[in-house]
Amino acid sequence: MIDPFGRRISYLRLSVTDRCDLRCTYCMPKRAAFLPRSELLGLDELDRLAAAFIRKGVRKLRLTGGEPLVRKGVIGLVERLSRFLANGALDELTLTTNGTRLAHHAADLARLGIRRINVSLDSLDPATFARITRGGRLDEVIAGIDAALAAGIAVKINAVALRDDNLGGLVDLAQWAHRRGAELTVIEVMPVGSVEAERIDQHVPMTEVRRRFEHRWTLTDLARRTGGPARYVRTDAGGTIGFITPLSRNFCDGCNRVRVTCTGRMYMCLGQEARADLAAPLRASADDCLLDSAIDEAIGRKPRGHDFAIRAGSSPAVERHMSATGG
Ligand code: 5AD
Ligand code: SF4
Repeated sequence: MIDPFGRRISYLRLSVTDRCDLRCTYCMPKRAAFLPRSELLGLDELDRLAAAFIRKGVRKLRLTGGEPLVRKGVIGLVERLSRFLANGALDELTLTTNGTRLAHHAADLARLGIRRINVSLDSLDPATFARITRGGRLDEVIAGIDAALAAGIAVKINAVALRDDNLGGLVDLAQWAHRRGAELTVIEVMPVGSVEAERIDQHVPMTEVRRRFEHRWTLTDLARRTGGPARYVRTDAGGTIGFITPLSRNFCDGCNRVRVTCTGRMYMCLGQEARADLAAPLRASADDCLLDSAIDEAIGRKPRGHDFAIRAGSSPAVERHMSATGG
């Protein structure tokens, strides 16, 4: 799959649910509306979708949500998808999780071939964590991270930088992650979906975050690129920190990914409306001809990039929240 800008699409982020057991203030409004379960694709359909993308050249598959581990039967889906690891069609099968249920599933995930996992964790202070997530329990997430590491899964912690919530704790979070042998990636908040807070109040430019790290460590830029938006540095203590800077530095030129929601909507860019319905062609015939041509047509419309901007009073770049598109 090559898009109109010559980018090879080899990475699918497949959302298995829009539901989540947390309610992070930057991600969703307090009274989040979730889809009726009847609108979700079945596990068979998710598997068929993934298989179609893999046939077309996807080498990396990430399950997302919402929170993927709240979807009933998700471990069974991972088990089925792991056949693509066994036969070499996929280089990597992974997921992004909030970690609340990771302690229960880490051993299974490791057994099924999950080698790396992203865990979202914005603060190590129990009260701050509970405030950001609107009620989440930090100890559950830490137990999840430790279970994953104990099972041999490499952990990357993702933290969204938030001016009034966790900015002062990011350096300690990095140190905590590094001591456990995990990496930390810091993400600038993106204007996707409306939340109670103003994005301009939440947003911290990454240069400012970086300066805080530089008070503790000398940072060396790494050439390493993983095909994703993160730029990496190494600290003089040997830890790795990633920065994802959608606002202060656009990274779309090397974009290799597309997203599919739990209802079978394909979004060609996180920050644009361009989309294609894959559920109808998936269901219209048992063979994948219609599905294949719907995917090809959609790849042919992949936008050049997002145009996120955060200004006072500006509206979100897209109305849908991260939990709807797939984080
Ligand atoms: N901006 C940046 N990151 C976000 N996430 C959710 N909403 C936003 C947003 N508006 C992050 C979560 C998680 C990943 C799935 O997406 O923190 O790390
Ligand atoms: Fe759930 Fe992740 Fe959104 Fe937090 S950021 S509410 S953990 S989907």
